Amino acid sequence: MSTRHIIFGLSALALGAGLSGCRGDREDAPPRQFFPDLDDQLKWHPQGQSGFFSDNRMMRRPAAGTVPFGTTEFVPTQDWASAFAAERAGLLKEDKGFFEGVGPDGKYLSTIPVPVTLDMLRHGQEKFNIYCSVCHGYMGDGNGRVSSATNQWAVPVANLLDVKYRLPDPKDPSSELHKDGYLFHTVRYGLLGEGGQPPRMPGYAHALSEADAWAVVGYVRSLQTARNGTLEDVPESAREELRRKRGAVPAAAPAAAPSTGVSK
Ligand code: HEC
Repeated sequence: MSTRHIIFGLSALALGAGLSGCRGDREDAPPRQFFPDLDDQLKWHPQGQSGFFSDNRMMRRPAAGTVPFGTTEFVPTQDWASAFAAERAGLLKEDKGFFEGVGPDGKYLSTIPVPVTLDMLRHGQEKFNIYCSVCHGYMGDGNGRVSSATNQWAVPVANLLDVKYRLPDPKDPSSELHKDGYLFHTVRYGLLGEGGQPPRMPGYAHALSEADAWAVVGYVRSLQTARNGTLEDVPESAREELRRKRGAVPAAAPAAAPSTGVSK
């Protein structure tokens, strides 16, 4: 071993002893800082001031569009706060009725959970004509382009005017096919194929928001009502126009008979 190695080894030992010190000793001098830039790094204190932002605060407000997740429920105690609570619920999709079409009991809702207006139905009509009519037909009777004999969809397309999609099935009280929540769910998520089969109907959640989907549900209801109603169900003011339009339809094209029974 060379002298250089011995000197190097001794100084390493001395340095080690110096660093380890004696545990429990009291010392008035400030502690040694081996990495001062880590001990004394620049950092922002929650209540501190900074000239960096125009409001001089170090604490920032949450970025727009983010949802603060608290540990407690946000129950607004003042009127002005309820708008924030509603906005937060929307972002969190907490309202299972509106966002999933199911009630607190986990069953599909029987009725649309938002007010139904004429504007909403018009919106539903537009969306239905774009996304559903290709298979289900503009009338919802299952005679869309895709269901024509030359261009068959893999699965027979459902006739949405069928009574089983309108009224509770007396033979099967557990059937939920007639519920608004079920229709909503079908619009958003489609119908899965069984046992690895391709989907029987695609879902439209990518194209139709929850509000769109409820509007489509409303429009399907109005298609069903229209098929099963009479002129007397229509407001007096609109009857004349309907009579006129009916008169304009050639007599050779009578409306299809409404379906009466629960189909299989
Ligand atoms: C690509 C074709 C296609 C499109 C587009 C389509 N559907 Fe369907 N839909 C089907 C088929 C096929 C069935 C029948 C599936 C079965 O019986 O297994 C069906 C069934 C249904 C049913 C009955 C569900 C059931 O359980 O019996 C509803 C309600 C429905 N569709 C609503 C809609 C609505 C609303 C839209 C538009 C958002 C839409 N569908 C778009 C093909 C389509």
